[in-house]
Amino acid sequence: MTSFSITIDGRAIAARPGQSLLAAATAAGLDLPHLCATPREGFAPIGSCRTCLVEVEGEADLVPACRHAATTGLVARTDTPRATRVRRLATELLAADMSAEAAARHPASPFRDLVTRTGADPDRFGHRAGGHPADASHPAIALDPDACIRCGKCRAGCRDVQVNGVIALAGRGEGLHVAFDDGSPMGTSHCASCGECAQLCPTGALAPKALQAAGGPASVTASGETVCPFCSVGCRVTLHLAGDQVVVWAEGADGPANHGRLCVKGRFGFPYLRHPDRLTTPLVRRADAPKDAGLSLRGADVLALFRPAGWDEALDMAARGFARARQAHGPQALAVLGSAKGSNEDAYLLQRLAREGFSTPHVDHCTRLCASVPPLAEATGFSAVTAPIEEIAAADVVLMVGSNPDSNHPVAASFMKNAFRRGVKLILVDPGMQALSRFATHHLRTAPGTDVALLSAMTRLVIAEGRHDQAFVADRLEGFEALKARVAPYTLDVAERLTGVPAAEIAAAARLFAGAGAAMTFWGMGASQHAFGADNIRAVIALALACGQVGRPGAGLHPLRGQNNVQGSCDAGLLPAYLPGYRPLAAPGHTVVEMFDAARMGEVRALYVVGGNPAMANPDLAATRAGLARLEHLVVQDIFPTETAAFADVILPAAALAERAGTVTNTDRLVQRIAPAVPPPGEARADWRIIRDLGVRLGLPWAELTVERLFDEMAREVPALAGFDWPLMERAGHARYPLRPAPEGDSLFADGFARGPRAAVVPLDATGADEAPDPAFPFILMTGRLREHWHTGSMTRRSPVLEALSPEPRAHMHPDDMARLGIAARGTVEVRTRRGTVRLAAWPDAALRPGVVWMAMSFFEAAANELTVNRLDPTTRVPEFKCCAAAVSLA
Ligand code: SF4
Ligand code: SF4
Ligand code: FES
Repeated sequence: MTSFSITIDGRAIAARPGQSLLAAATAAGLDLPHLCATPREGFAPIGSCRTCLVEVEGEADLVPACRHAATTGLVARTDTPRATRVRRLATELLAADMSAEAAARHPASPFRDLVTRTGADPDRFGHRAGGHPADASHPAIALDPDACIRCGKCRAGCRDVQVNGVIALAGRGEGLHVAFDDGSPMGTSHCASCGECAQLCPTGALAPKALQAAGGPASVTASGETVCPFCSVGCRVTLHLAGDQVVVWAEGADGPANHGRLCVKGRFGFPYLRHPDRLTTPLVRRADAPKDAGLSLRGADVLALFRPAGWDEALDMAARGFARARQAHGPQALAVLGSAKGSNEDAYLLQRLAREGFSTPHVDHCTRLCASVPPLAEATGFSAVTAPIEEIAAADVVLMVGSNPDSNHPVAASFMKNAFRRGVKLILVDPGMQALSRFATHHLRTAPGTDVALLSAMTRLVIAEGRHDQAFVADRLEGFEALKARVAPYTLDVAERLTGVPAAEIAAAARLFAGAGAAMTFWGMGASQHAFGADNIRAVIALALACGQVGRPGAGLHPLRGQNNVQGSCDAGLLPAYLPGYRPLAAPGHTVVEMFDAARMGEVRALYVVGGNPAMANPDLAATRAGLARLEHLVVQDIFPTETAAFADVILPAAALAERAGTVTNTDRLVQRIAPAVPPPGEARADWRIIRDLGVRLGLPWAELTVERLFDEMAREVPALAGFDWPLMERAGHARYPLRPAPEGDSLFADGFARGPRAAVVPLDATGADEAPDPAFPFILMTGRLREHWHTGSMTRRSPVLEALSPEPRAHMHPDDMARLGIAARGTVEVRTRRGTVRLAAWPDAALRPGVVWMAMSFFEAAANELTVNRLDPTTRVPEFKCCAAAVSLA
């Protein structure tokens, strides 16, 4: 975009078309006074406070810098006597809008900084009367209405940026006030608890309770920046610490993936760092503590089963156990299970330990549980997204299959909602209603497990009506004729019968997608976590490729996945079938679930688990736990005593992501450097360092390895990271791979694909669900995640705000089903499958289809995976988490 020059206080700076004077000045590093404006992406000017007034040559009046467009040759002065006087006056009038008591309650705030900066007398015009009751009903944020100057920033953040639409400025004149929904207390409103309002509020009127309890902003003793560990969006966050290094406030940093935004987990999830359950010293199993498949490990139980040990003793024991198992049973008896919640360096070194130290092919990690990349790699030859989320800005249409980003990737969802508000059209394929439903042009509510039928019918119609991209198909696609034959049976009538979606809706959605100038295609765990998940994704990709929706700005293929380093841990080769950089192996080892099948059968005898929690995360937990109990040697490395650690022989205390240095790679191929924001507790150490020390004990020459060397080595091994090295990460802080010259953009494959000149449409295996409902088990059980909790809950359930917002396991059911079975809201029910039974509260949820019961996977008290079925997709080896037969009855 062409830039031009403007002059502010005699200094020439570059500005871009569309920028305000304030935005151009801020981008150039100038700090112009302002209050109601937020010079971050996504904020329209409010223009209510007048504290940004400046003189502009040729204008008789002062102009607000936040609303005045930067134009070629503009000359502005901020420091004239008139501008200085009027800004001071504006600040004094705003100060009068707070009660005197409220002003005293909030002595440190951006508004108080402005008072000081402008030299305003905050008492010049007196103060309005106080006495309006505070709203402390929300677990994390308090409203002090007497401190509110009615600037409207909170409303803009809630409505325009996060698109939650909960905060309004209600009333008129003197009665103007902040309101939630239709006047509810904040705690019972539809607040999503993203905390954007408290981050924006310049006076402390809306403020985080934990920060206030610690003594306000002045109590902050240290601050540090890291990347949020709770999903693959990769939001940068600044942690503010007070007291004994406790996180009292997490602020969205202006990172490349989040531009200052956070969701409820990134905002309020970090107190787990100082939870008393943190592992702070190595532990070894007591001789009198037998392993039992019914074991769990909570609080004081830890020392009933384990005794503290020094690092040397624990590492020696860990290494000896692996060496012994290898000698007695051969290297195939050893296995390694890592995690995508660590760093690239952890993942890279862990796969080296498996391959070089243990000599075993059995190495995998939890990305397997949501893996949706293999079908993309089949089609394009590339094992990462072809276009990042932000390409939505250039799209006309979004196709979203089996994903609920408002719960699973909330900050990404906020950017999507911004785009939908601007007119980008959404085709949503999902059985249930969800937060994005209200933005959807077409919400195709398929019967569970029928995505292939729906997508095939859309593809068939597009081809039959000649709406496919004929040039793309001719020049850049293999397998089109076979695709045409495969989708031929899926007429609209057949699809309507199988999916329950009206034929006219299917046809309209197909025509919209095919007619888009550019369409982004997303899919999520609702598509991938099936025993036929690869088929679902192949069907999505086939439709997108037939329509040529790839390789242009705003067109691309994007699997939305779970964990913070989901891309990097795969790039690093922490996979049984691939070395770093996806170099294939002829004889792949066991995947996540297969390792425990092998353990149950006595084939795998020794296991090293780093950051994973299979005793909660795997399907059919009874089977997984039986495998864990049978192991001869189990070493668990984690930050908490997880359900898996209950079976360990040695537990090694790890530092959390926020406590160490390295790099992580998000879903968008964005590699970000992290530095320690908080010191680790006790003797906890970074994962890569523990892995290194274990490797040294197994005879590997690793004593000199460092984070920097590991990153450089990984970058050399992974072709997509060409040009990356540690100095680049230090210098830039982040970079997207592959490195490309700026004009090329981030949507890959404008010409050719990684596999060659043409993408491939891969035939489906045409498998189906393992368990259909029957009279004994008439419901379909689906599992998933809540916005407030992450994965197995080991971190988020130790964060008091998240636990207060979502404290208990619930069986979500359609109200009609509950009425039919005589189940009252919150009544205790038993949910049974052929694997097990759990008891939990019934929760009416009209967003579900009748006949479905939905449970989150994060609650150990009623672990959803005690119920799920151990059946794997033949290609991806992803388990079936979304569909098994269940019965529900009153407990
Ligand atoms: S609560 Fe804060 S951000 Fe919202 S209008 Fe009042 S002063 Fe402005
Ligand atoms: S969207 Fe994901 S990365 Fe961002 S704050 Fe939320 S959980 Fe963290
Ligand atoms: S910052 Fe410009 S009017 Fe408030």
